[in-house]
Amino acid sequence: MTTIVLLSGSLRRDSVNGALLMTVRAILERRPRDITGTLLTPAGLPLFDEDVEAQGVPKSVAAAQELVSTADAVVISSPSYNGSMPGGLKNTLDWLSRPWGAGALTGKPVAVATASPGRRGGAEVQPELHRVLERAGALVVEHGRVAVGNAVARLGPRGIFTDPAVTAALDGLIDATLTATGHLARGAV
Ligand SMILES: Cc1cc2nc3c(=O)[nH]c(=O)nc-3n(C[C@H](O)[C@H](O)[C@H](O)COP(=O)(O)O)c2cc1C
Repeated sequence: MTTIVLLSGSLRRDSVNGALLMTVRAILERRPRDITGTLLTPAGLPLFDEDVEAQGVPKSVAAAQELVSTADAVVISSPSYNGSMPGGLKNTLDWLSRPWGAGALTGKPVAVATASPGRRGGAEVQPELHRVLERAGALVVEHGRVAVGNAVARLGPRGIFTDPAVTAALDGLIDATLTATGHLARGAV
């Protein structure tokens, strides 16, 4: 069994980034071997505070840390908020980076996608996400850039992307992620 955590930067019910991750999950379900995509959102995580951490991490944080540390990989999809990642996503990554040098993200393959209704698909956030992930000790997965512009108009009828250009890009992202986990190379998918 391979487990991939699907972390959205958006809390919005009709989020295009949530839809992108649901599309990743649908693609994973169609693959021949056992791969589970588990959704994670920044909702419910308190603001990072070293004093809180020192007293013992809250249950919601411990659950998120456990989910990521036991997963094989993470796929993030995020909007751009004022040219940066949303604060909730940064807060989540900060919690997942702890304790320093031994956090849930340490050595974890993480792939990054962005989506927005705008033309550039939130692409400007990707270098920032890469930098933060690297600082947190993650292994940023190399793949063709996935920045889905004009995303609302490209959504399919069931709230997932059926646009062939988007699904082909996500296929490539998934292959690269599984390769980074070692599973694709071992012929497990
Ligand atoms: C506070 C805020 C700032 C935003 N800043 C940007 C931005 O800098 N660039 C951009 O392309 N879209 C920006 N947007 C629009 C978002 O891309 C859009 O709301 C998008 O649908 C959010 O992603 P979601 O559908 O996954 O929730 C911003 C939206 C909000 C609420």
